[in-house]
Amino acid sequence: MNIRVFENPQLAAVYAAALVEQVIQSIRNPVLGLATGSTPIPLYESLVSFHRQGLSFAHVTALNLDEYVGLSADHPQSYHFFMNEHLFRHVDLPEEKRFLPNGAAPDLALECERYDQIIREHPIDLQILGIGLNGHIGFNEPDVALKANTHVVTLARDTIEANARFFGEQERVPTEAITMGLQPILMAKKVLLLAFGREKADAVVNAVRGDVRTYSPASILQVHPNVTFILDREAAYVL
Ligand code: GLP
Repeated sequence: MNIRVFENPQLAAVYAAALVEQVIQSIRNPVLGLATGSTPIPLYESLVSFHRQGLSFAHVTALNLDEYVGLSADHPQSYHFFMNEHLFRHVDLPEEKRFLPNGAAPDLALECERYDQIIREHPIDLQILGIGLNGHIGFNEPDVALKANTHVVTLARDTIEANARFFGEQERVPTEAITMGLQPILMAKKVLLLAFGREKADAVVNAVRGDVRTYSPASILQVHPNVTFILDREAAYVL
């Protein structure tokens, strides 16, 4: 595992964006695994500014990790909406190459199968991850067991509390999500996990030190041969 610590999230994001740029420029039809949440926002800002300076996303395919169940693409708190706002509408990544699970699908089991098929057709070159306060990646929550494939998950109480800040109040946060499982993340050629702020320090230390545990889903990244944790000083302070 590589660990890079930066003075602040902005510098960390520029470093991460340069790694993304490298992948886009060196692979013919690169597949990026993308994440949502507040953490990757400065990364997407950097990528948008790289695009304004000439970086093209025309050959990129983007696969997102997850989506809330019950939120349609035009809901302002949906991850579809987030990706449009923070990246897609600013770059030339073709619409037909942007994939997210559909949280409003009438048959969620079928939707999980559909998404797994898309993942099989587009093995990920570079996976971007954030990390939940409880160590979740995507919405793979701490549990007695973890899942390999795309699945519907009941969100943990602390995840709902943490995400209430985006919804105004806790009652509005969906209680379920569709998330990519751990297999495509572990099969990605390269993984970048970003974590900023002191409140992420415990999740980070549990992921990188000690054993792989299902109660720290991010700790499974220890078995991956090419993972870089990109941290600010605060998130790294107990390492
Ligand atoms: C969300 C997402 C994760 C994200 C995490 C942390 O609920 N499903 O992909 O990494 O929680 O979010 P944030 O970056 O806002 O702290």
